[in-house]
Amino acid sequence: MRVLLTGIAGFIGSHVVEHLQANTDWEIIGLASFRHRGDSERTESFDPDRVTIHYADLRGDLSPTLVSRIGPVDYILNLAAESHVDRSITEPRPFIENNVSAAITMLEYARIAKPRAFIQVSTDEVYGPAAPGQYHAEWEPIIPSNPYSASKVAQEAIATSYWRTFGVPVVITNNMNVIGERQDTEKIVPKAIRSIITGEPVPIHADASGNPGSRFYLHARNIADAWLWLLTNTAPEMYPHVGRPSRWNIVGEEELDNLTLVRMIGDVLGTEPKVELVDFHNARPGHDRRYALDGRKIHEAGWRPPVNLRDSLAKTVWWSVANPEWLGLTDADVRHLR
Ligand SMILES: NC(=O)c1ccc[n+]([C@@H]2O[C@H](COP(=O)([O-])OP(=O)(O)OC[C@H]3O[C@@H](n4cnc5c(N)ncnc54)[C@H](O)[C@@H]3O)[C@@H](O)[C@H]2O)c1
Repeated sequence: MRVLLTGIAGFIGSHVVEHLQANTDWEIIGLASFRHRGDSERTESFDPDRVTIHYADLRGDLSPTLVSRIGPVDYILNLAAESHVDRSITEPRPFIENNVSAAITMLEYARIAKPRAFIQVSTDEVYGPAAPGQYHAEWEPIIPSNPYSASKVAQEAIATSYWRTFGVPVVITNNMNVIGERQDTEKIVPKAIRSIITGEPVPIHADASGNPGSRFYLHARNIADAWLWLLTNTAPEMYPHVGRPSRWNIVGEEELDNLTLVRMIGDVLGTEPKVELVDFHNARPGHDRRYALDGRKIHEAGWRPPVNLRDSLAKTVWWSVANPEWLGLTDADVRHLR
């Protein structure tokens, strides 16, 4: 089997490669721009006998030369996207244009490559906020709150149109917030680890009454495992047998408010975190307090996440202490923790 991944030098992409290396004998081909938050340092654990990386900026079409270099592919995992909500709010146009173009590029490529499945990676955020006790099931109404989630909705919609018009075997997956080693410091877990180590307050988004936001976090390894499971245990549903493509929610095992998450990180480091509750309505318009997806479909189909949240969080924290440069820190900053 040959699998093509976009965003291979991104946070989740690098975990997917490690998971495929450990659990399959597949050949892995990656496309990377090494920009848009991709980082070649993430590729250090890749096996050069199994993984080939080609440079490609997906804002433009793949050249015929690159297409022939890639060769035949069985599966495509389309991860490439700008992924940070704050940046989508400060600069919506290039952010949205990037994500729309990346989707079109890969779907156009899929028309030529004719893979067995094309996973379009998406997010819980397309559904907008979930009220307390509410869990969005697959195909509930889509109401994005900010330009990031709108750009992911656009990727889903374009993929759905290629599924219907051109017969591309699209599978959409919506996953919840991901944690793990090598994550960009703009995201909450590395940001919190860094602040706790340096003794600075961790900003936590809350509503006007001080209730922190909550998420269902899961380790990137679990996402990778869910995609591998879908590719090996299910077949994409196709038009006209069904009226819409396969869609699967991939959900973390427990809901955590962000204050509890930060305290859990503090417990691992043996330090009481300083926190600063920030009213997100004023500070971060477009941010949602709670996301929640209904994970029953994939659970009932038989997938079980291989790693649990608490162990993976501890592993992530200790990995960051061992690799302080990822947090913008030095050995001297973390020596007391080792
Ligand atoms: N991290 C999360 O919590 C989370 C949750 C739900 C969904 N997702 C989705 O998962 C995917 C991967 O996210 P991540 O956390 O690894 O983000 P990331 O920012 O670490 O990685 C994104 C990757 O996309 C690549 N990319 C972006 N634009 C590109 C372009 N024009 N050409 C080539 N490559 C381009 C970047 O180089 C990078 O490697 C994204 O589609 C994101 O929307 C992430």
